[in-house]
Amino acid sequence: MIDTNKHFLRLADWSEERIVETINTAMRLKQDLKAGRPTPELQGMSVGMFFEKPSLRTITTFQVGINQLGGFPVLLAPDSIGLGKRESVKDVARCLSRWVNAIVVRCFKQNLIEQLAEYGSVPVVNALTDDYHPCQAIAFAQMIREQIGELKGKTVAFIGDGNNVANSFTALAARTGMNFTLACPKGFEQPKAFIDEMMPDFEKRGTKYRVFNDPKEAVKDADILYSDVWVSMGQEGEKDTKQSHFLPFRIDAELLKHAPSHVKVSHCLPAHRGDEITDEVMDNLELNMSYEEAENRLHAHKAVLVEVMKAYK
Ligand code: CP
Ligand code: NVA
Repeated sequence: MIDTNKHFLRLADWSEERIVETINTAMRLKQDLKAGRPTPELQGMSVGMFFEKPSLRTITTFQVGINQLGGFPVLLAPDSIGLGKRESVKDVARCLSRWVNAIVVRCFKQNLIEQLAEYGSVPVVNALTDDYHPCQAIAFAQMIREQIGELKGKTVAFIGDGNNVANSFTALAARTGMNFTLACPKGFEQPKAFIDEMMPDFEKRGTKYRVFNDPKEAVKDADILYSDVWVSMGQEGEKDTKQSHFLPFRIDAELLKHAPSHVKVSHCLPAHRGDEITDEVMDNLELNMSYEEAENRLHAHKAVLVEVMKAYK
């Protein structure tokens, strides 16, 4: 039985209070960094990092962040470890737990990260799986607070695939009082079981979860439009089919005409310019908050580690 509070496997595992506390910590750590105040909150600790999929932002900011907190990041090469091939996941988890204080994992299957949490004894942090990207949601929330204002009552229109990023943003919205709108082609909605799990939170707060197949309808009352790649890491074989379905689900100047004039745009990155978002939108730095969000990955990851270590100590 996994103690989901000990880990950060899904945003939906954490309460509103804990999510807000983590966003507040990220904002405080950003101010500390800018003011040159030391934050040795992981002093003497080591964090194992295992990345099965490519990464720029996540792998860089976790390492830089751990270093800034006085800890030591241990980058574990997937080929060398051979998780589940050279050695069982159980044995890797049990050994690693005896050396490092936490494990940050980016992998395909959510089940793998759950096994590491089950068999290891230290906190496990999800740095993206096929199903969830909770760290991205913390950085997104911090960006909203800084660039737009309080989360409560804001509407995010997610134009794209109903998978990992959309799922974690739905959990963020459900827990913090935001409205979440997904615009996607038929058949690319989020998993029903997950939405069923989140619905009581929307109902309790009187907020809305909506799905549209027409992106123009979806953006009408949005405060922020969000974009993610049409073809996620590991789905490369589905590229041609997905691209044909997703063609109308692009954030461009035409779609923006249907959104309120105050709307902002963001993307988790990497962006496939010309597919899900145009150059024109990406390079409009008054409109596009993706780089502010990317900057916040550093602070969000530090905050997540501080939060899991606080609960674990
Ligand atoms: N958004 C994000 O997770 O970026 P990377 O894949 O580069 O880490
Ligand atoms: N949905 C994308 C997110 C990348 C950060 C993917 O999984 O590749």
